[in-house]
Amino acid sequence: LDQIIPQHVAIIMDGNGRWALRQGLPRTYGHKKGVDVIRNVVEFSLQKGIKVLSLWAFGRDNWSRPIAEVDYLMQLFLHVLQNERDILHKQGVKLCFTGNRLELSALIQQEIIIAEELTAKNCKMILNIVFNYSGHWDIMQAVKRISYSVVHDNLDLDSIDEDMVAKYLSTRDLPDPDLFIRTSGEQRISNFYLWQIAYTELYFSNLCWPEFDNTEFEKALEWFALRERRYGKISEQLLEEDYV
Ligand code: FPP
Repeated sequence: LDQIIPQHVAIIMDGNGRWALRQGLPRTYGHKKGVDVIRNVVEFSLQKGIKVLSLWAFGRDNWSRPIAEVDYLMQLFLHVLQNERDILHKQGVKLCFTGNRLELSALIQQEIIIAEELTAKNCKMILNIVFNYSGHWDIMQAVKRISYSVVHDNLDLDSIDEDMVAKYLSTRDLPDPDLFIRTSGEQRISNFYLWQIAYTELYFSNLCWPEFDNTEFEKALEWFALRERRYGKISEQLLEEDYV
């Protein structure tokens, strides 16, 4: 029997700093190692037929870290954008980015556009890099833009429904995540996707991100395949399509 594969997997890559400190290395070493893990996870996801892989690389709340670490993460992101896009393009991966771009440096914004344009027509898998994102920010910007349309474009209040709100979120073109994974043992959402995870299965791994490997990813996928996703219904309704 074929395993049920989640269409969209979203990951909080947590624990880089703790992993590095544990072995007497600087926190930034953990982030560098984290990039190697990203490469592997992308390849494994392609093999598995996952259609969308979202990776949270920087939260809007991460600006309050020591400046040197923020600078390092920005440099690393830039470096990865410039050096990996050709390989990803060859692999048939379409790159997209969710988060507030306008707060990023002009150079990063430009490199994001180059990566998106280069890979725009690829359709094997979407690699969605979640960068300078927070769930509260996303909902706030959607509310603002909907309000603008009500005031300036005569948008009818009664036409605002859940589908419309979803379209105004920064994830508008993506399906909601089926499987969420957070590494490092923390069991919280930390202002990541909020609206989008209403029916997502949540998997928490005790491994830190630099330790996350195919065995652990496979474990999460097997766990997911055994979930019964009811979307508010009861079990019997899922078994018999015409159950009333
Ligand atoms: C969480 O670990 C990780 C981050 C805040 C950054 C994640 C970034 C990468 C894996 C590399 C950069 C990504 C791209 C796409 C270039 P933490 O620092 O919060 O670890 P801690 O909880 O142990 O402190």
